[in-house]
Amino acid sequence: MSPAPFDPAALPASVHLETGRGGLPVVRVVGRQGSAELYLHGAHLTSWTPAGGLPVLWLSAASLFTEAKAIRGGVPICFPWFGANPLDPAAPAHGFARLSAWELVGARDEDGTVAVTLRLADSPATRTTAWPHRFEALYTVTVGARLTLALTVTNRGPDAVTFEEALHSYLAVDDIRATEVTGLEGAPYLDQLAGMSVETDTVPVRFSAETDRIYLDSPAATAVTDGSGRTVSIATGGSHSTIVWNPWIVKAGSMVDFGDDEWTGMVCVETANVRTDAVRLGPGQSHTMSLLLSAIA
Ligand code: BG6
Repeated sequence: MSPAPFDPAALPASVHLETGRGGLPVVRVVGRQGSAELYLHGAHLTSWTPAGGLPVLWLSAASLFTEAKAIRGGVPICFPWFGANPLDPAAPAHGFARLSAWELVGARDEDGTVAVTLRLADSPATRTTAWPHRFEALYTVTVGARLTLALTVTNRGPDAVTFEEALHSYLAVDDIRATEVTGLEGAPYLDQLAGMSVETDTVPVRFSAETDRIYLDSPAATAVTDGSGRTVSIATGGSHSTIVWNPWIVKAGSMVDFGDDEWTGMVCVETANVRTDAVRLGPGQSHTMSLLLSAIA
């Protein structure tokens, strides 16, 4: 059963539903503890800035803002599959969630920390994809001095379902060549650029070429330093996979929605459940995956 439509008049003063880029609806949060922009297209968070701090997320200046395409940067939601769909190579990469119109179902401001909840459920369009199941997804973005993202998926159908998911966060870095991701030392990963060969690094992840790694059964705490003195800490819940990605020069140049020189200023460290970590839910069961970001200058 669908919840009652949300009354925009019930929004707290710190939350505004406006028309954003490309005419797409956007929820603007200007809270005492932090500000953010959340597009209903894809439930796509495009910015988060803690009060008095610098923006933590990266957004491409070349991003398209259209219903036909995922926004490039911020935090796309990959669901219910990650990457190409193995059953339908023509299906959109990373699933339909980041291309879907989500619905605003709640917003509250508690002492300057603002939580906004969006909802997506199956529709005739999703039921004709390679993942035709009945589901409900609720996504709560809590904007404050720290950022919390929580995606809860419920199986609303009569059979067990399996899905992949990722909060595909793009973090702004001063220079990728001075960036390190710590917390994954000693953890095996699948190298997507080397035929999924299994590799292990004993040192923090450093970047000197295109990097595209899937860590399965990965640790819940990582951190990103970028040579500027800032550390972004990432703590996850209900997530067993971590993806680390930077396209470097050639791949950046091949993407229409990614500036040729922008690869130096971003890194993706994604909170996920993919491949053998995919989530399986019986009828009526729910699963929550969460991400807590904090930035220390
Ligand atoms: C990452 C994948 O999560 O997303 C990469 O590991 C992929 O392989 C990247 O290139 C971007 O994907 P997309 O579909 O947004 O261009």
